[in-house]
Amino acid sequence: MESTLREEVRIFPDPEGLARAAAAIFAGSAERAIAGKGRFSVALSGGSTPLGLFRILGSAYGDTLRWEQVHLFWADERSVPPDHEESNFRHAHEELLSKVLIPASNIHRIRGELPPLEAAAGYAREMVSYFGTAGPPAFDCILLGLGQDGHTASLFPGSDGLKDTGHYALPSYSGAAGNWRVTLTLAVLNNAAEILFLVSGAAKAGIVREVLQKGQRDLYPAGSIRPSRGSITWLLDREAASGLGAC
Ligand code: 6PG
Repeated sequence: MESTLREEVRIFPDPEGLARAAAAIFAGSAERAIAGKGRFSVALSGGSTPLGLFRILGSAYGDTLRWEQVHLFWADERSVPPDHEESNFRHAHEELLSKVLIPASNIHRIRGELPPLEAAAGYAREMVSYFGTAGPPAFDCILLGLGQDGHTASLFPGSDGLKDTGHYALPSYSGAAGNWRVTLTLAVLNNAAEILFLVSGAAKAGIVREVLQKGQRDLYPAGSIRPSRGSITWLLDREAASGLGAC
C-alpha cells in the first residue's frame, strides 16, 4: 500500500525566525520522546543552515531541555578530523555541545578522521548498538539541509548510495566540494519518525521550487526522502520560499 507522505511547509520571515521555530519543534519532539520512552535520538544536519538552530538550542534551551536524555548523531560528516574547519561535528560542538550538559556517551560522532569506509562501518555499528537489530535505526528526528543540486545529507545526484538498501551508513564523494564524506542512507532516513528540512536563502529558491512545487521531486536525492512511518516538515525562510507560487 502506497504510504501517504505526511508533509508540511512552513515559511518564516528570515533565518532567525526559521531557527527559533526549528528549536521549538526540536524541543517539543525531545520532550515527547523523553516523556514516552526516556530518551530522544536525533541526527543533526551539516552545513551552515543549522548553525542558528544550534546557537539557540545551546543558549535558550540549555537549561530547559533534559540533555542527559538526548542522544546526538549526525546525518552526515565530512572525512576530516573533528577539529577541522569543515567538520560538521566541530560546528555543532562550538555552537551547542560545548554549551549544554550532555554526557559524552550521548554524542555519537561519525569519526571523520578515519578512512570513509571504516568510519561508515563504525558508525553503523554504533547505531545498531543504540537502536538494536530489529530493523533500520529509527530516529525520533533527523535534521536535513538541501543543496542547490538537490542533495541532502551527503546523498548526491547519481550517487550509488541512493540505490543502496543494505547499509545504514556509506562513504560518499562530493564532486562539487571535492571531498569524501560519510552519510546516512535512505534506509535510515526513511525510517525516521520526523524529518525537519531547514532551508534558507535566495540561492535555494530554485531547488525548493523544483522539489516542492514543480513535481520534479524524484529527480533529486531530497525527493527520495519519504519516511514510511514519519512526517516531513520543511522550514523555509522567505527567500528560500520565494519561488513557491504566491509567496
Ligand atoms: C553537509 C550537509 C549538506 C548540507 C547542504 C546545505 O555536510 O554539507 O549535510 O547536505 O545540509 O549542502 O548546506 P548549507 O546549509 O551550508 O547551505
